[in-house]
Amino acid sequence: MSPFLLTRTLPEDATGAALRADVRRGLTSAPKTLPPKWFYDAHGSDLFEQITALPEYYPTRAEREILVDRSAEIAAVTGARTLVELGSGSSEKTRHLIAALTDLDTYVPVDVSESALSQAGHALIAERPGLRVHALIADFTAALALPETPGPRLVAFLGGTIGNLPPVERAAFLASIRALLSPGDALLLGADLVKEEGVLVRAYDDAAGVTAAFNKNVLTVVNRELGADFEADAFDHVALWDAEHEWIEMRLRSRVGQTVKVPALGLAVDFAAGEELRTEISAKFRKEGVRAELASAGLELSHWWTDAEGRFALSLSTCR
Ligand SMILES: C[S@@+](CC[C@H](N)C(=O)[O-])C[C@H]1O[C@@H](n2cnc3c(N)ncnc32)[C@H](O)[C@@H]1O
Repeated sequence: MSPFLLTRTLPEDATGAALRADVRRGLTSAPKTLPPKWFYDAHGSDLFEQITALPEYYPTRAEREILVDRSAEIAAVTGARTLVELGSGSSEKTRHLIAALTDLDTYVPVDVSESALSQAGHALIAERPGLRVHALIADFTAALALPETPGPRLVAFLGGTIGNLPPVERAAFLASIRALLSPGDALLLGADLVKEEGVLVRAYDDAAGVTAAFNKNVLTVVNRELGADFEADAFDHVALWDAEHEWIEMRLRSRVGQTVKVPALGLAVDFAAGEELRTEISAKFRKEGVRAELASAGLELSHWWTDAEGRFALSLSTCR
C-alpha cells in the first residue's frame, strides 16, 4: 500500500449541500455571517500560510516555540503510535512533534483543504520514510470516522483554531473529540491567550493587508462556487476585539448600499452602507477557562505549557 492515502468524506463539488446551506443561512440572518471554513480553498490556504509568517501574527511562532521545547515530553507522556491532527493545514509546526514521536506509525491529517493535505502529506512522507499518512478531507465539526490505526492515539488541534468555534459549538466539538478517545489516548490543544488589545487586533489587521485579502477570499469562493457577484473592493476588512466575549471578530463592512445576487440560491442580498458581515471569531483563552471547558467534555487537563512570553498555550489531556 502507498504510504500516502487521501480519503474524501466531503462532497467533491464544493457547491455541495454544506456550502449552500451555510451561505443561505448566513446571508439571510441578522447580523449576516459566513463560517470561516469557507476561507480555505487553495488560494485561501496559501494566504493563511503567508499570514503565519507576518510580523504581527505571533500565534504560529509562539506555538512553534512550545512544540520545539516540549515535543519530547509530549512523546514521552503519550507514546503515541497514531497522530490525528484536526485542521492540519500545512502541518508545518507538526513536524517537530512527528520527529519526536519515535514510535509513530500513522499520521492522520484532517482538513477541508485538499491542496493543503496533499502538499503536506507528500512532503512528510519524503521526510520520514516508513511513516504512513492517511489524510482525510473532512469537516472536523461533523461526525469523524477515523481510520483503523494502532493506539495510543494523540489528537492534536493546533493553531488556536478551537477559538474559531463559538462557545456552544466548542462544547459539542470537545465532547465529540472525547468520544473518539480510548483509555491511553490524549488530546493536545493549542489555545491563544487573552492579551493586550492592540497586539491582538494587529495580528488580525496586518500592515501588508494579507489578512484583509484572506478575509475577502470567502467572497471569491462564494462567487466561484455559487455564481454570486460580490465585489471585493466594495467591502472593507474589519478586525475588532470584543472584550465581553474575549474574542477577535473579523468582519467585512459594505462601503456602499448594494445588492449582491447569489444565483445558485435564487437570493438577492441587500447590504446597507456600513453593514457588516461576520466572517470569523477567534476566541482567546485563560488557563482556568480551558480547564473548565475540557472538564465539561470529560477531559482532564494534565499539562499546560506556554511560550516564554506567555502568549500562547498548549494543553495536554490524557484519557483514562
Ligand atoms: C487557522 S488554520 C490553522 C492551520 C494549522 N493547524 C496551523 O496551526 O497553522 C485552520 C485550518 O483548519 C482548516 N479548517 C477550518 N475549518 C475546518 C473544518 N470545519 N473542518 C476541517 N478543517 C477545517 C483550514 O483549512 C485550515 O487549514
